[in-house]
Amino acid sequence: MKLNTDRLHERIAALAEIGKTSDDGACRIALTDTDKQGRDLLVNWFRETGLKVEIDEIGNIFATLAGRKNGTQIMMGSHIDTVGNGGHLDGCYGVIAALEVIETFIEQDKVPQYDLTVAIFTNEEGVRFQPDMMGSLVYVNGMSVENAHDTISTDGITLKEELTRTGYLGSMKCGLIRPYAFLELHIEQGPILEKKGITIGAVDNVQGISWTDVVFKGQSNHAGTTPMEMRHDAGFAASKLTVAVREIANVVGSGQVATVGVINPKPNLINVVPGEAQLTVDLRNSDAKKLKIAEFLLHEKIKEICEDEEVTCQTDQLVRFDPVKFDSRISDLIATTANYLNLSCVHINSGAGHDAQMMARICPTAMIFVPSRDGISHNPKEYTDPEFLDAGLEVLFETVYRLDKGYLD
Ligand code: GLV
Ligand code: MN
Ligand code: MN
Repeated sequence: MKLNTDRLHERIAALAEIGKTSDDGACRIALTDTDKQGRDLLVNWFRETGLKVEIDEIGNIFATLAGRKNGTQIMMGSHIDTVGNGGHLDGCYGVIAALEVIETFIEQDKVPQYDLTVAIFTNEEGVRFQPDMMGSLVYVNGMSVENAHDTISTDGITLKEELTRTGYLGSMKCGLIRPYAFLELHIEQGPILEKKGITIGAVDNVQGISWTDVVFKGQSNHAGTTPMEMRHDAGFAASKLTVAVREIANVVGSGQVATVGVINPKPNLINVVPGEAQLTVDLRNSDAKKLKIAEFLLHEKIKEICEDEEVTCQTDQLVRFDPVKFDSRISDLIATTANYLNLSCVHINSGAGHDAQMMARICPTAMIFVPSRDGISHNPKEYTDPEFLDAGLEVLFETVYRLDKGYLD
């Protein structure tokens, strides 16, 4: 089966030019001007390919090639928004590869049985508006459109205003179509496939995610005159919690990961004891019970720090998703398809969050992973060997081809 891999790479490179940072990273944070430009580029490609383009009320973009059984669809896709300084493959690869699959059907005069749709979901990264994976969450009715529209960005604007400003407030009702199946091709963003020397990951699970915003409030005071025993240092409380978060990961064990990604002391000046400090805690585990324990320990630790440092604290749960199990019929099909193509393959779990984990609530879903060099992602150094990108595309195409033959019937 001949796929146009040159076009895949050219398109990835063209999208990478939009919002490119000085260190070659990608900055297309959800619903900013660069995200809009990226969306416009993709929509142009969709239209040039002759696909029907629809935008829903949360700004998800769907581009469809009609099949013989009009109305039932196999959906593929991912996101093109990025973290503040990410790479050029996270999400984008899955979207552009999905377009390539559809274009291959068209160029080979294959009329699919099912509609084939490529989806670009809004705000997958969740760095500007929380929760992450918002577009797919709203699509599957896990959050109301109204609540999502009212979400306020870290820079103080509602999501609805930004959808309107960028021209992506669509009229299509969210979740109108329940796909026959959903597939997301993605870079692994972790080290496992590379370490094992394997080309394809058939993804079985996505780990649970818990994001908490924590604000300590103490007393801002003079750094020179305030005796150590009289301080109510919110910055110190935040630092103690940062260390405690690492300890929580260690004691829970079993793949528990824990990250403090944001620390903001106020007033953030050299000679002032911080009166306030905000930090974020990201906890993840594939085991729902272990994730609950980690969350319990976090709150226990926050109370302890408040007592010891005589500060107060406010917490806000920003994101809470349980671990997700994908459809084993599809992950097995992916693995068999990879074998058939003479590509090495293992079953694998996802450490990152993905739109597929939301789609799994409404239809049979699975993901395909390809290796990430040095396991690096959310970083301009994110890279995958073009040969692996091509292999992933081939597996996606062949898997869609078999799904279209009615594999799940
Ligand atoms: C999304 O990329 C996440 O896993 O944080
Ligand atoms: Mn992603
Ligand atoms: Mn990401």
